[in-house]
Amino acid sequence: MSDVRDQYESFPYPARDPRDEAKRLITGSPSIPIEMDHCLWAGQRDWSQPLRVLVAGGGTGDGLVQLAQLLTDAGKPYAITYVDLSTASRKVAEARIKARGLTGVSFHTGSLLDAPDFGVFDYIDCCGVLHHLPDPRAGLQALRAALAPGGGLGFMVYAPYGRSGVYPLQAAFNRLYGHLPPRARLKHAKKAFAAIPETHPLHRNPHLGDHKQSDAGFYDLLVHSQDQAFDVAAWVGALNDTGWALAAFAQPGLYDLGRLVDVPENMDDITRLATAEQLRGTIKVHVGYARAATDPTPHWQAAPDRVPHLHNVPAAAFAAAIAAQKIPKLRMGTEQIDVQIPAAAAPLVAGINGQNSIRAIAQDAGIAEEKALKLWTKIDAALTPWGTLRYSGITR
Ligand SMILES: C[S@@+](CC[C@H](N)C(=O)[O-])C[C@H]1O[C@@H](n2cnc3c(N)ncnc32)[C@H](O)[C@@H]1O
Repeated sequence: MSDVRDQYESFPYPARDPRDEAKRLITGSPSIPIEMDHCLWAGQRDWSQPLRVLVAGGGTGDGLVQLAQLLTDAGKPYAITYVDLSTASRKVAEARIKARGLTGVSFHTGSLLDAPDFGVFDYIDCCGVLHHLPDPRAGLQALRAALAPGGGLGFMVYAPYGRSGVYPLQAAFNRLYGHLPPRARLKHAKKAFAAIPETHPLHRNPHLGDHKQSDAGFYDLLVHSQDQAFDVAAWVGALNDTGWALAAFAQPGLYDLGRLVDVPENMDDITRLATAEQLRGTIKVHVGYARAATDPTPHWQAAPDRVPHLHNVPAAAFAAAIAAQKIPKLRMGTEQIDVQIPAAAAPLVAGINGQNSIRAIAQDAGIAEEKALKLWTKIDAALTPWGTLRYSGITR
C-alpha cells in the first residue's frame, strides 16, 4: 500500500462524524453551484440539464455532500461519481450521504489517475488532492481526459507562503519517523512537536489550525509524506501544461497586484499574480476553477439580465450598512477587506434575492435602469473580487 493511501486509511480526512449531518451543512469553495456557474459558465449554465460530476479524491465527503445537498435543494438534476483511494474515507462519505437521505451518488475506491474509466464529466471537484500526488501533472492530465466539452474543474491546492512553518516540520518528522506505521508516526511527531520552541514559524502562523483540530488534521498538516505546495505561477503553469486554462480564482481580488502597489508597465499577467501572492504572504491555498484550454471563454450576457447572488452576507443588513455608510469589512481568512459602495446603491443591494435580475431589482427599487447600472458597476467592483457577489441563473 502506498504511504499516502496508508495515511488516509488510518486517518480519514477531514475527521467527520456522519451524525453531525443532522446539525449542519459544511460549505466551502470550490464546488458551490452558484460560484461554479459564475466562474466557469458566465452565470448561464442550463441547470435543467443533468450535471455529471466527478469528485476526485472525495475523502470523507465535504465537497460531495455540499454538491449533492445544494443541487438537491435547488431541485436540479445531477449524477455524482465519488472516487478515492481510501476505503475508510469512502465509508464516512457514504454514511454522510445516507444520513441526509441524498441520492444520485455512485462510490468507487480507486485512483483519479484512472478518471476517464469512470465516465465523462461536466464538472470535476478536486479539492486538496493534487498536491499529494507523486506527479500532480499526471493527475491534471487524467482529469482533463475525463472532462466533457464545455466542462470545468474546481480545484484547491496548497500554496507555500501562507503555510510557512509547515514544510520544515514535515521534512524533519518524515526523516525521523517515516519508517514507522501511521499511528506510531503520529505519536512520535506529536511528542516532538510539543518540544519545538514557541517562536517556531508554525506557532507564529495565524493561518493554520488543522493540527489543533484532530489527529487526522495534525497528520495531514505536519506528518504528510507527500505534500508539494504550488506558488501561483507554478500552479497556472501546471494547468497550462496539461490542457487546462485558469477560468477564475474564487477570490480574484487576492491576486490583484493593482490593489497593493502601482503595477509596472509591461508586467505580464502571471508575474502580476505571482508578485501579488508574494506581497500578500497570507495565501495558504489556491481555490478556483479551470476549463479546457481548447474551449472558448463563455460570454457574459448583458449586465441587466444577470441574476446576482450575495455570498455570506445578508442582503437587508448589508444594504442598511451601505445606506448608513458603515460597511463592515469583509473577512477573507485572517484578512479584513475594506469595501466602498455609495449609499445610493443600498436599495439595489437590498433587492438581491437570488431570483431577480439586475433589471428587475432596479425596477422594484424605482431607480432608472441607466442610473442603476452605473451604481451596479460600483457594487460589482467592490464585491465580486472577494466572491461576495456572484451571478447565476440556477434559481430561476
Ligand atoms: C486531504 S484529503 C481531501 C479530501 C476531500 N477532497 C476534501 O477536500 O475534504 C485527500 C484525499 O485524496 C485521496 N487521494 C490521494 N491520492 C489519490 C488518488 N491518486 N486518487 C484518488 N484519491 C486520492 C486521499 O485518499 C484523501 O482522501
